[in-house]
Amino acid sequence: MSAEPLLSVRSLSVDFSTYGRVSHVLRDVSLDVPARRHVALVGESGCGKSVTMKAIMGILAQPPARIVGGEIRFDGRDLLQVRGGEWDAWRGTAMSMVFQDPMTSLNPVFTIGDQMETILKYADRRLGRRRDRRGRLDRVYEVLAQVRMPDPERIAKSYPIMLSGGMRQRVLIAMALLTEPRLLIADEPGTALDVTTQAQILKLLRDLVEERGLALLMITHNLGLVREAADFVYVMYAGAVVERGPAVEIFARPSHPYTRALFDCVPKLSGETTFKGIDGSLPDYGAPPPGCRFAPRCPLAVAMCNRSPDERPVGPNHSAACWRLEEAVA
Ligand SMILES: Nc1ncnc2c1ncn2[C@@H]1O[C@H](COP(=O)(O)OP(=O)(O)O)[C@@H](O)[C@H]1O
Ligand code: SF4
Ligand SMILES: [Mg+2]
Repeated sequence: MSAEPLLSVRSLSVDFSTYGRVSHVLRDVSLDVPARRHVALVGESGCGKSVTMKAIMGILAQPPARIVGGEIRFDGRDLLQVRGGEWDAWRGTAMSMVFQDPMTSLNPVFTIGDQMETILKYADRRLGRRRDRRGRLDRVYEVLAQVRMPDPERIAKSYPIMLSGGMRQRVLIAMALLTEPRLLIADEPGTALDVTTQAQILKLLRDLVEERGLALLMITHNLGLVREAADFVYVMYAGAVVERGPAVEIFARPSHPYTRALFDCVPKLSGETTFKGIDGSLPDYGAPPPGCRFAPRCPLAVAMCNRSPDERPVGPNHSAACWRLEEAVA
């Protein structure tokens, strides 16, 4: 492994200003995605997963968002300094996002082939690559075949409405692969699909990143997916990373009170493995608790939790940010 991970986020903090009110959403988020590794960012709805992903992709609308601190490094470059023309030129080959909702992410009035060919045309232009429409269409067919589409030429001539939900999701994966990125970011992949199709899509995504040696950052609230798809896990609560570690470690020894509560919510034998909820709700990001953001819901909270907890080691490459880890795991 190289000294620096492919993607490295350091102390990222993001505020939102809406109607004159400031919400302090992300606080000091740090995470790494090494080349070829599969990393999951997990936490309940509203905890800041998509904001993190959008900041990494450079698609966070500013305003209302404002990056108030931190660094996002890709392959050694600080992306916050290179956004704009230079970033546009190489972002397609750096990272791509697998969009979640095929209904809203595909344009209903253009064929799949036209939409994919257009992406390639602009990517080629940014990269100064010369390729005619025929060449671009060949690449479109090639990628549609890679996502296991039967008869890619027929699919390319289809409009989105003519395809099933699972096929549309495959098209979105193909779109993300078109420009040969090194990192795929998948935000809640397959959530718009039924459980069986979702499982097939995830297997496809896993196979593709494996075959092509890509890094994957998967964002999800589904612990079942994390167990299947990730080597390394970051647990996020209310805009802060509260625990990080290898997936096997996190599942064997969840240590932060929030992670433990999250795992308690997973039915043990069968059925839905989605996080079901913990008593209480996320804090108001306009006035979050001063120290540990989990304190209002934490059964172990004490006075010192009014100060931000340090991250402390709990196992090999595994740490959690809590003052009372000993009591939490007892
Ligand atoms: N465009 C926005 N304007 C204001 N606040 C936002 C916006 N997008 C996200 N937020 C705030 O950030 C929080 C986290 O959102 P998000 O990252 O989408 O959560 P999730 O973990 O479900 O992906 C939201 O609860 C909301 O308070
Ligand atoms: S720091 Fe305190 S409030 Fe936060 S999780 Fe640990 S015990 Fe609970
Ligand atoms: Mg989200």
